[in-house]
Amino acid sequence: MPGLEMASCACALDATRLESCTLVIFGASGDLTGRKLLPALFTLFCQGSLPKRFVVVGAGRTKMTDAEFRATLRSAVQGFDEKRLKRWPEFADTIFYVPVEYTSEESFKELSQTLMAIEKSNPTGGNRIFYLATPPAMYVPIGRHLGQVGLASKHNSSGGWARLVVEKPFGRDLKSAVELDAVLHGSFAESQIFRIDHYLAKETVQNILMLRFANSIFEPIWNRNHINYIGIMATEDLGVEHRAGYYDQAGVIRDMFQNHMMQLLALTSMEPPALLSADRVLSEKSKVFRALKALDERTIVDSVILGQYGPGRIRGQEVPGYRQEDGVAADSCTPTFAMTRLFVDNWRWRGVPFYLVSGKRLQEKRTKIVIQFKEVPHSMFSDTLAENITANRLDIGIYPQEKIALRFEAKGQGATLCLSSVNMEYCYPVDPQGLHDSYGKVLLDCILGDHMLFWDQSGIELSWEFLDPVSARGDCPEAGRLLQPYASGSWGPQQAWPWMKLLLD
Ligand code: BG6
Repeated sequence: MPGLEMASCACALDATRLESCTLVIFGASGDLTGRKLLPALFTLFCQGSLPKRFVVVGAGRTKMTDAEFRATLRSAVQGFDEKRLKRWPEFADTIFYVPVEYTSEESFKELSQTLMAIEKSNPTGGNRIFYLATPPAMYVPIGRHLGQVGLASKHNSSGGWARLVVEKPFGRDLKSAVELDAVLHGSFAESQIFRIDHYLAKETVQNILMLRFANSIFEPIWNRNHINYIGIMATEDLGVEHRAGYYDQAGVIRDMFQNHMMQLLALTSMEPPALLSADRVLSEKSKVFRALKALDERTIVDSVILGQYGPGRIRGQEVPGYRQEDGVAADSCTPTFAMTRLFVDNWRWRGVPFYLVSGKRLQEKRTKIVIQFKEVPHSMFSDTLAENITANRLDIGIYPQEKIALRFEAKGQGATLCLSSVNMEYCYPVDPQGLHDSYGKVLLDCILGDHMLFWDQSGIELSWEFLDPVSARGDCPEAGRLLQPYASGSWGPQQAWPWMKLLLD
């Protein structure tokens, strides 16, 4: 296999550094808990990567007993191998459930009492992480009530710390993001707030800074003098699934662009900070958002394509269109696809287009970053070779393969002179057991109190400020007229294909 071998490196976390704590998950009966959080936690447990004493308390509006909650979570790890499943009963013993009415202060007082009772028999030093995995509309009442009943204090009555993890989307525009932040700061200090983006914890995404700044060969050419364009794609073949209630309010700009896509853009284009510390990295990212060339009424028309999936076929199976999905309004104008051409207006990037695309029910799930270099300035082979010389390209694959691939030209074997494109690539080993899952990583970082892989409020506000005109286009009454339809299983609306071609192999 053409490729490179990676010398093994000891990257495992020393779990003895982790302080004991209780993780309280609001929205515990929801999709995120079963699909992502619980499998990630159970994986960490089986690896011995959780703190010595660790308790999970599910909190939600559904009335359930501990036993019923444990039983629903058991089905979330159904696909785990036998060896790990044998350890489930031991893990399940550390899981509890508390019914909570998010808008009732009384209910939060009861939660506080129950937590103390649970921690009495499972001492975790009073350290608590509150994870908001509810619909975003609940963040405000939960944040407020945690403060009112004394659960948010930096050092609480049980002598431990309190931290708050906020799932995306953080607000639905600049105004609501500012309001949400003000409410959360009424209860929590900035150092206690962790605004999550699981893309930041993906191995290959973390690797972008290593690739750029731990090698001396890439950085000198990582600019407008050598790069023709940059593509960032996160396409999915899945539809809206059972999340229509949330998604129909959000759409692709709020669901994928304001967070994951903006982070990939920032990591690819930011300047190197002097040190790898959370505040310096976050500050460099904010500079990228500040440098984005604003989209106005006129430029937005040429820079943004919005689409919505219709019926079609995915891997041979017929699938319904977005408007036929359960829970979606029959006249919904919510965009499920967006492709944008953006410019980072600074010394390094002036004039280099960044194409960002994300959408549901597309031909394949593919997440990658394409760095397309310029063609050679002059071809000395023009008299000898029939074909043009293909420009170099660096692909940073995030899904399905986590890899780095550099395409360059080499002489084809044989008596006649010919060129062929060849790839030099490094693939991360496959991880079928989810040992390096991104949710596991962000949960551990939150236990450690490390903000490096989270958003700060400045970045959130700057990225909303930039994207508000785009999401407003998807919201406005005539949004339906602007939406380009596309068949499920295709590569999006026809209008986007010329740009799409630049990113596909
Ligand atoms: C989530 C979005 O944040 O990311 C989902 O809400 C999307 O709509 C998901 O499917 C994609 O994440 P991943 O890790 O599967 O690429």
